[in-house]
Amino acid sequence: MPGALPPGPRQPSWVQTLGWWARPIAFLERCRSRYGKRFTIRLLAAPPFVMLSDPEQIKELFKAPPEVLHPGEGARILEPVVGRNSILLLDEAAHIEQRKLMLPAFHGESMERLSDLMREVAEREVAAWPRGEPIQLHPRLQALTLEVILRAVFGLDPGRRLDGLRDRLTAILEFGARPASMIPALQQGLGGRGPWARFVRLREEADALLFELIDERRGDGGDRDDVLAMLLAAHHEDGSPMSPSELRDELMTLLVAGHETTASELAWAFERLARSPEVVDRLLEEVEADDGDAYLTATVQETLRRRPVLPNAAPRLVKEPAEIGGWTYPPDVCLVANAYLLHHDPEIYPDPYAFRPERFLEDPPGTYTWIPFGGGRRRCLGASFATLEMKIVLRAVLAVNELRPDRGGLELTRRRNITLSPGRGASTVLRRRPVAAAVGG
Ligand code: HEM
Repeated sequence: MPGALPPGPRQPSWVQTLGWWARPIAFLERCRSRYGKRFTIRLLAAPPFVMLSDPEQIKELFKAPPEVLHPGEGARILEPVVGRNSILLLDEAAHIEQRKLMLPAFHGESMERLSDLMREVAEREVAAWPRGEPIQLHPRLQALTLEVILRAVFGLDPGRRLDGLRDRLTAILEFGARPASMIPALQQGLGGRGPWARFVRLREEADALLFELIDERRGDGGDRDDVLAMLLAAHHEDGSPMSPSELRDELMTLLVAGHETTASELAWAFERLARSPEVVDRLLEEVEADDGDAYLTATVQETLRRRPVLPNAAPRLVKEPAEIGGWTYPPDVCLVANAYLLHHDPEIYPDPYAFRPERFLEDPPGTYTWIPFGGGRRRCLGASFATLEMKIVLRAVLAVNELRPDRGGLELTRRRNITLSPGRGASTVLRRRPVAAAVGG
């Protein structure tokens, strides 16, 4: 049947939308048990989403030519925050050009140079966390990851500009968590007093500080290791530097893409570790033996497998008929690599619901079986940055604290905009680790 899509739930799209937003994990699991690894869901005000969770099909999806699939088009709702030059919104040649400009800033070597700064920020923040009572780690991790981005990506030094941007950007990100406030049409008639008007004002104030920063940094020719320094040194193919608005848009993009994702992933790491004392013991042994960080890396990988904060890669809008896994998809359908289902496929990961970092010691993550950072030419630019930061924060916390969950049972999943985070905010009791067992940062 030309144009037919793989079968999926038949409920009205508002019912499917409710499941997808309110109980995403249960909804996805139910669809898989009924329809298999490939199914179609229908959400309100969106093209049909075909969910793929077979590694061979995901490989074909990630390798499809850029003119056939457009992930950028579906991200337009972010434009008021990230701006029209954002790598997230672009496709084809324009996307490739922007990605080439940004890639060097995220290479392993550039990342290593940021680790001292990340460690300093992490240790200072963690030292202020209260002990002996249940606390929500998630909001504290949001503050920590915001500080890391402002210092290591924006290259801000402590002072007036950092404080001004921290306040305004926090408020701007809160708008992102309430999508309705981002739609100007819904705000008409509020006479410049509604949330949209407030958002525009905050954005203007943040932009003024950002353009001032860019201008100053362009002039000082300084020798710094932050991501902005690498972007200032980048050149288009015709030799021209990135314009101030391109720089502004990509800084905002890195903030939006890298802040809440890393904070939620760290929150899951602590939610798991508080319930897995044997994993914590092994992490401590590794540090005490001064024996590399293989188990720490595996712990981060296992957290990303078990709790991918983005349950799927960016939906790819079909522009020309695309054949994947023997099915030909027509234009105007979105193909979606589903990380959550792939990561919980017992044929790939035996005992998939167990939290067991050892599985990645035996078998490193595969390109098409472990996709918390998506894949192909859209793969997360900040994957090394996020992994490094997670390792540093885990060490900084475990070095001085023992973790206990606030009460029995797991934390359920809560959706915050597009990321999935622990329902009770990773509520944990910290206790000072006895000195003899304390480990170095
Ligand atoms: C644990 C934390 C993170 C997770 C789980 C994550 C996950 C993802 C995913 C799933 C995508 C879409 C990939 C695709 O569709 O194939 C993505 C894209 C992206 N991420 Fe991340 N991310 C994280 C942290 C970061 C950080 C820290 C930064 C930057 C500082 C960052 C920057 C980006 C950018 C720029 C893109 C767009 C790439 C493109 O379209 O070419 N991310 N990320």
